[in-house]
Amino acid sequence: MRVQLTETVLRDANQSLIATRLPYDKYEPILSTMDKAGYYSVECWGGATFDSCLRYLHEDPWARLRGIRKNMPNTKLQMLLRGQNLLGYKHYPDDIVTKFVELSVKNGIDIIRIFDALNDFRNIKTAFEAAKKFGATASGCISYTQSPVHTVAKYVEMCKELQQMGFDTICLKDMAGTMGPQEAYDLISGVKDAVGDMPIILHTHCTTGMAYMTYMKAIEAGIDVIDTATSCFSGGTSQPATETMHFALQQMGIEDGLEERVLKQVNDFFKPIKEAYVADGTLNPKSLATDSNALVYKVPGGMLSNMIANLTDMGAMDKFDAALTEIPKVRKDLGYPPLVTPLSQMVGNQAVTNVLVGEPYKQISNEIKAYFHGEYGIAPAPVSQELAKKILGDQQPIDCRTVDARKNTVWADAAAELGDLARSEEDVMSYICFPKQAKDYFQYRKEQEERTCTYTLEALD
Ligand code: CO
Repeated sequence: MRVQLTETVLRDANQSLIATRLPYDKYEPILSTMDKAGYYSVECWGGATFDSCLRYLHEDPWARLRGIRKNMPNTKLQMLLRGQNLLGYKHYPDDIVTKFVELSVKNGIDIIRIFDALNDFRNIKTAFEAAKKFGATASGCISYTQSPVHTVAKYVEMCKELQQMGFDTICLKDMAGTMGPQEAYDLISGVKDAVGDMPIILHTHCTTGMAYMTYMKAIEAGIDVIDTATSCFSGGTSQPATETMHFALQQMGIEDGLEERVLKQVNDFFKPIKEAYVADGTLNPKSLATDSNALVYKVPGGMLSNMIANLTDMGAMDKFDAALTEIPKVRKDLGYPPLVTPLSQMVGNQAVTNVLVGEPYKQISNEIKAYFHGEYGIAPAPVSQELAKKILGDQQPIDCRTVDARKNTVWADAAAELGDLARSEEDVMSYICFPKQAKDYFQYRKEQEERTCTYTLEALD
């Protein structure tokens, strides 16, 4: 038996614990060592890394990827992609999605894990086709959630659909860490029975304290790959520890292909980096703690803390219990969407509004209206007809896929707006994804170069 590990320190662990603030030059020295560890893959790009590079770190995200590729020639590099949303929250046209995937592969990505917040697989089809066209491994990813309609049978159906679409692997993504060990066992046994020898990957977080148990039961059920983080960047809102899982697997006589000596070197390298983030407050000790509230309230931890912050700001914490009771109602009205970004914020905010206004849906957010208009895709279960009528009136919901496939001038417009600030197709793509952040970064890059230029001239005098 064999179980392989994906190391997440460069992406999800970094995103979950220190809001993706780890700059490339801080970890470049360890990459060639990591390359010898024997991971299934290293998740290093996508998710929030792209935005964070441009917005906070004055880094070109594409240059980061090329740097990792150069220093890790033997390891599969993996990214997380939100289907038709790419790395943001709105739908992009099909040709832009295809181009993004092409550039990602060109700059070094091997595995693309593709998901949609609603599990509307029409929204991951274009990215899937592009991944196959440009030679990447396409991993079809399901946003895991718990609701009356999300049964094992439903997940098995989704996995079969991903297999039929032609995905190479399937990932079950438990972003809130609420999947319990028994659920993992039932789910993965069911999926394994249905999809034969197709590799199944489980992704979870330690947030609620269940992750190690969940992984153990998943292993018992035949999981192929699990996501872990080097131990000093593990636990809390991050993944279980790589070395710890390796130790447990060894004891069980399960092969993982990892080099223990290298795993230790990697952790020794990141330890002082982590300590510095604790010391300067970037890493909040709260993120490392276990928070079982998510299990009690059936909502992700991040959503709870967001609600508490909003209600505290408005001096309305006395409405907290009422808002918590309102969440399942709003979620039902919306057809039980998974509580993942951006749906978690949308459901949370609407529940709070309903409670504060004192009458459900007297005020409706623009995002919820867009949701009912069909802009996000199809809900997992039928939505409330009453609410749909209130929002849509006589209008019919749109088909987001027809809109995505429409002829457009997004690329040409972006290139024209940037002029000579853009030096590559990658620059144009950065601008399409995050216009303001990309432009600020290009401006910064130009100023830096001009400054360097002056220094050189002075030195020559
Ligand atoms: Co995650």
